[in-house]
Amino acid sequence: MADFKDKIVIVTGGAKGIGGGISRAFAEEGACVLCADIDEDSGAQLVTEATNMDGTVRFLKADVAHAGECEAVVNTAVSEWGGVDILCNNVGIQPANSYLPAHEFPEEMWDRIINVNLKSFFLMAKYSVPEMKKRGGGVIINTASVQGLQSMKGVSAYAASKGGALSLTRQLALEYAEDNIRVLAVNPGTIDTPLVVEAVDFMGADLEGLKKLWGKAHPMGRIGQPREIANVVLFLASDKASFMTGEYVCVDGGMMAKGAWADGEEE
Ligand SMILES: NC(=O)c1ccc[n+]([C@@H]2O[C@H](COP(=O)([O-])OP(=O)(O)OC[C@H]3O[C@@H](n4cnc5c(N)ncnc54)[C@H](O)[C@@H]3O)[C@@H](O)[C@H]2O)c1
Repeated sequence: MADFKDKIVIVTGGAKGIGGGISRAFAEEGACVLCADIDEDSGAQLVTEATNMDGTVRFLKADVAHAGECEAVVNTAVSEWGGVDILCNNVGIQPANSYLPAHEFPEEMWDRIINVNLKSFFLMAKYSVPEMKKRGGGVIINTASVQGLQSMKGVSAYAASKGGALSLTRQLALEYAEDNIRVLAVNPGTIDTPLVVEAVDFMGADLEGLKKLWGKAHPMGRIGQPREIANVVLFLASDKASFMTGEYVCVDGGMMAKGAWADGEEE
């Protein structure tokens, strides 16, 4: 896929997990990648790794829940390489201590999750779109979740943020279709990332056992890897998806295809 040679790509939460997979995938395809993340060590590691790739990765420490930091991310891409072609709004948090019923959910926790998982998507789009317009178009890919479509107990803020990300995807697609800016989302199923590992550590549970158990919720019988999300992001960002906008793709081993009534079939 030579579509990305010298393309300018921003990846929020791009230092590890799914975002790390997305940053690496674009850098391997020759892109100039600006990884915006709060984790400097993982960012530095990624930058070093990328010296062996066709493209470049630059790291900027930024908490993208804040407008000024989002603006600085976009300004860095512009000053470094001249603009923005692709924005991957990937950042997302689901703190291990946040699995609580709504009536016990602290307001500050709600605000933090919504600000990181949803407001940052709006802010990064707000500052990136004018730069995309100057270049005649662009692509925004939002990492939402299967939790934006179906839900479970204890995740009021996370579920709301992901439903919001899917709704924002549709809205921005309509807003900027005439400007040749496509806006799409991916909904990962359970993916093997630090986010998941932290939740397991917090529960004090057996990681490998839980991965197997979660795998069973996916018809393909396993959880996914960051690269399997990144590959779909590459496709959506490429010209091969030139007539797609305002849509989401579930990358979930068949999880969303399965109705609740299907459980009995496995007994
Ligand atoms: N892992 C899964 O099973 C799964 C499933 C569905 C959706 N997702 C979504 O995929 C995305 C990536 O998740 P992941 O599992 O790779 O998470 P992760 O915790 O493994 O990685 C997230 C990255 O974001 C960074 N980050 C956190 N807060 C930040 C902030 N305020 N500003 C900038 N960077 C910040 C972290 O340092 C980290 O590098 C999220 O939007 C998540 O909701 C994950």
